[in-house]
Amino acid sequence: MTTTTPSRPSRQTPKPFRFDAAAIRRDFPLLQQQMRGKPLAYLDNAATSQKPQAVIAAIARYYNSLNANIHRGVYELSADATEAYEKARSKAAQFIGAYDPREIIFVRGATEAINLVASSWGFISIKPGDEIIVSALEHHSNIVPWQMVCQRQGAVLKVIPMNDAGELDLDAYAKLLNYRTRMVAVTHISNALGTINDVERITTMAHDAGAKVLIDGAQSVPHLAVDVKALGCDFFVFSGHKVFGPTGIGVLWARAQLLEAMPPYQGGGDMIASVTFEKTTYNVIPAKFEAGTPHIAGAIALASAFDYVNNIGFDAIAAQERDLLDYATQELSRVSGLKILGTAAHKAAVISFNLDGVHPHDVGTILDGEGVAVRTGHHCCQPVMDRLNVPATVRASFAFYNTRDDVDRLVAALGRVKEVFG
Ligand code: ALA
Repeated sequence: MTTTTPSRPSRQTPKPFRFDAAAIRRDFPLLQQQMRGKPLAYLDNAATSQKPQAVIAAIARYYNSLNANIHRGVYELSADATEAYEKARSKAAQFIGAYDPREIIFVRGATEAINLVASSWGFISIKPGDEIIVSALEHHSNIVPWQMVCQRQGAVLKVIPMNDAGELDLDAYAKLLNYRTRMVAVTHISNALGTINDVERITTMAHDAGAKVLIDGAQSVPHLAVDVKALGCDFFVFSGHKVFGPTGIGVLWARAQLLEAMPPYQGGGDMIASVTFEKTTYNVIPAKFEAGTPHIAGAIALASAFDYVNNIGFDAIAAQERDLLDYATQELSRVSGLKILGTAAHKAAVISFNLDGVHPHDVGTILDGEGVAVRTGHHCCQPVMDRLNVPATVRASFAFYNTRDDVDRLVAALGRVKEVFG
């Protein structure tokens, strides 16, 4: 008898972190172009991200060689399109650590996902006198759908307050929770200020009170590895276009048991098991929540975006963005009359600021003239602006393909603003 010695696990020293931003930027065709005759410094990633060539190619490939309706045809093309679409669902499940691809519902984006939960889960779960908690940091899309549920079903909306730094007050949150609380809906990362919320703790506290938790991951999935099992939440939502995929596609994740108990959100093709004029029975999940022809190309291209970011790796992405946040904070803090809004201890690479005596829209317009793209306004977070007592901010939001040079361009362009406004 011969025996073989099992091979030893490799003990190689991990490679030191090296981020080749120039090579990465070459993957993004749009970043090569000019704006206002200047190289583009794209600093509006919280609004939407640019797309790598791999994602653009996936869309073209789909329409060039795979386009057919899914779940409907007996012919090969339809079967291939169905297979690619369902493979995208499995990749979405892997990307956020879901238990099962059936728990992934493709929707238009985070907004539609929240509306789906508010409408469907809210319909069976919220009774008069019940309470729903959101936070002071929420995007309008995680406020208004809950207000609509409260109005319709006689429930009450409560708000976790935040401090001047843009951090949620979890002691105040503990006091809001009670036996009437049915849902706690919070953002993972604030789009307006960059605050990273302690969603694990928020979730545990909600569960201790018997409430369900929805996490808006629109701003977190592009920047950190998400594992819904580790987060412990009940619902998790995000938009594809912020994670380097196409617009018009997004994901709702929920535990299968919850989805199975929820009524359909929309009626139509594919979401039914049988239809007569007397009675309709519904399909199983996920089809029950995907009425009509979905954004097939979008889902397939989103899966390419997952592959792309996984290939770079979230450790590398986090290190690059940490460097950008630190450098930008340091350089912007040196600009006289500039005030950063949102100084949480745990922050993503988002910097909101105002310049003394200059309206944010004027700042944004002059930056545009210098080839620097930022968002100005309330960032769909009017309550955040009210809390900070400002009408609007200028917001620079970074992705891994940004560089220190983009930060220098921003700072130089702010110098131009100061020249104009004297
Ligand atoms: N939610 C997007 C933003 O923060 C549109 O700009």
